[in-house]
Amino acid sequence: MTHQFPALTGAQKKELQEIALRIIAPGKGVLAADESVGSMGKRLHQIGVENTEENRRQFRQILFRADERINSCIGGVIFFHETLYQKADDGTFFVNMIQDKGITVGIKVDKGVVPLPGTNGESTTQGLDGLSERCAQYKKDGANFAKWRCVFKISDTTPSTLSIEENANVLARYSSICQQHGIVPIVEPEVLPDGDHDLRRCQYVTEKVLAALYKSMSDHHVYLEGTLLKPNMATAGNSCPTKYSAEEVAMATVTALRRSVPPAVAGVMFLSGGQSEEEASVNLNAINKCPLVKPWPLTFSYGRALQASALKTWCGHKENESAATDQFIKRAEVNSLACQGKYAGDGDDESDQIYVSNHTY
Ligand code: 13P
Repeated sequence: MTHQFPALTGAQKKELQEIALRIIAPGKGVLAADESVGSMGKRLHQIGVENTEENRRQFRQILFRADERINSCIGGVIFFHETLYQKADDGTFFVNMIQDKGITVGIKVDKGVVPLPGTNGESTTQGLDGLSERCAQYKKDGANFAKWRCVFKISDTTPSTLSIEENANVLARYSSICQQHGIVPIVEPEVLPDGDHDLRRCQYVTEKVLAALYKSMSDHHVYLEGTLLKPNMATAGNSCPTKYSAEEVAMATVTALRRSVPPAVAGVMFLSGGQSEEEASVNLNAINKCPLVKPWPLTFSYGRALQASALKTWCGHKENESAATDQFIKRAEVNSLACQGKYAGDGDDESDQIYVSNHTY
């Protein structure tokens, strides 16, 4: 461990850091539009639309054809494999539409969550086999960053040491493979919001998960300046009877990050994890206003909290498409303000909850 065999050249490191900094430039976050075919099916089912390749393409087009208002709000878009090779109605590849806005293209490369036998229902994430070859191809096809999601459950018996160590290792191994191919890894260790635990318990578990993750990242010689972290916010479990303010969530979240995430990490972009659109924006704003020293940009990489209103507005009808695109633009603009601590809120705390238990992606 004390001898160095450099994994990356200076030029490779420079490229990785430049990509990461472009994605999280001030006022920018990420649109996670990388739902697998199965996850997209659940979303479309909610609005009574059939889960066909064409309908998935139509909905992605609603997001991707947003006008230049999103150029200063969105630094990266995460694609799913299928979408990377799809085209808009006019024949333009989605990848080119996004790149033409100056937005960086990313790709989900994990192959989903699988059981970890011998644990109380815990999981790891598969997809390392062939990852190096897939990264090489995706880089040629326009992707400059990637995403890999691992999940942790909070209960009296979880997360276990095995789950924490196994998932930390797989995230670090994935990161190291991506970096060899000039792809910035987004590292996503999601502590799920299911349960009745309080805010302190989530904060504690988040700290332990992140501390183990960064030990593994160091063991695997990952170049932290060329990585992005996508964590959960520290929030109470969805069935916790105590309700916490955005300021309390922010303090718990920033405290957990400060205790476990090295300042060398290029940036932190939160997942929305089933929070309502408004809640995700208000919490992100509070995190940015939190009066603790924060050595990284703190922004968003939202899926549901950027897409929920657009999906509901569209409902599969052609005549609703541009109103749906406007809904997406609105969320992008609001979160752009929130990641700078400049969002005043819309005063609507009744906005729709989008939480589902045991969420898969
Ligand atoms: P949510 O913001 O919907 O939690 O999803 C983000 C994501 O990319 C999960 O992997």
